[in-house]
Amino acid sequence: MSSYKIPVIPGDGIGPEVIAEGEKVIETAADLFGFTVSWIDLPIGAERYLKTGKLIDEEELKELSRYKAIYLGAVGDPRVEPGILEKGILLKIRFYFDQYINLRPVKLLNGVETPIKNKKPEDIDFLVVRENTEDFYVGIGGRAKKGRTKNDLELARELYNIKFGLDIEHDADEIAYQIGLITKEGTRRVIKYAFERSMERKKNLSSVDKANVLSDIYGFWRGIFNEVSKDYPDVKTSFYFVDAITMWFVKNPEWFDVIVTPNMFGDIITDLGAMIQGGMGLAPGGNINPKGTSMFEPIHGSAPKYKGKHVSNPIATIWAGSMLLDTLGEKKAAKSILDAIEQNLSQRIALTHDLGGSSATNEVGDAIVNILKEMN
Ligand code: IPM
Ligand code: MN
Repeated sequence: MSSYKIPVIPGDGIGPEVIAEGEKVIETAADLFGFTVSWIDLPIGAERYLKTGKLIDEEELKELSRYKAIYLGAVGDPRVEPGILEKGILLKIRFYFDQYINLRPVKLLNGVETPIKNKKPEDIDFLVVRENTEDFYVGIGGRAKKGRTKNDLELARELYNIKFGLDIEHDADEIAYQIGLITKEGTRRVIKYAFERSMERKKNLSSVDKANVLSDIYGFWRGIFNEVSKDYPDVKTSFYFVDAITMWFVKNPEWFDVIVTPNMFGDIITDLGAMIQGGMGLAPGGNINPKGTSMFEPIHGSAPKYKGKHVSNPIATIWAGSMLLDTLGEKKAAKSILDAIEQNLSQRIALTHDLGGSSATNEVGDAIVNILKEMN
């Protein structure tokens, strides 16, 4: 019998509430499908950061590297300046473990309403493969010429009799920049992964870029895509500019099967993807390194205003748990969890407020557990 140790970072806000339901469902699947799981709870998040200043350190990362999959709730807290926890924990883990694939299924499950008129589950079923370690996320940037106050300027004028223009007096020359950077290998490997996934699906792969304007970086992306595509003559390929694809997501989502996208465009279009599949409460994601440590999480954030209210939808997290099991090789359990989620939705057994219901977070988890048991 396989047994898995899974590190868990419940994190902040609603993270712990939704993770508890995900754990419950995975434990049930383990009983039913003949494997065992044990959890390694890690107190990483805002609370610890506020108390000790610690985000995640080398020792913890080394410890995590012993496992194949991490389960994460959410990070983010209004008491902490935006970016600190996101960059210091979430992006840190994605980069440290070189989780170069961010897999985000956009699938309208039976029983869920999409805001797009007349579209059905068979119309909205695609997989976004978002590059996850490069592009504008590499963290190369800077600011300069900040903080020249009017007093400094007046002092300079008095001392040296320097004349400044009105704009400069008002600090208008302050600058900021951020570099988007992609590498040949970083691009090739994620595109190759997307082709491989296409081969298991409808052999229809779309690439996202903005090669018409940001032609150096995304022209490079396109060239690499064309090169890799030579190894997959059976896959039908298309290119979309990022602005246009947002339009087609809404108008013709049935065109898409697998989509590969640079990091930042992928961030943006998957929030739109989440909405067309019924909302943030239903959108899971996996940060994957096929040969290393991966991490699974709902794509929503920590939703601080719902913290402790037990009204949040745990389905995105439970679905992320299904993806986690799939990665561990427990394919049947993974599939069964998704089936149970879908049955709960289509029969409207336990739904949270975002889906028009009034069930509590744990009632949704319980319902999915019961369905899983009935089905197996
Ligand atoms: C996501 C999030 C993150 C991202 C943030 C929190 C760093 O928006 O997972 O989509 O931009 O990737
Ligand atoms: Mn995002």
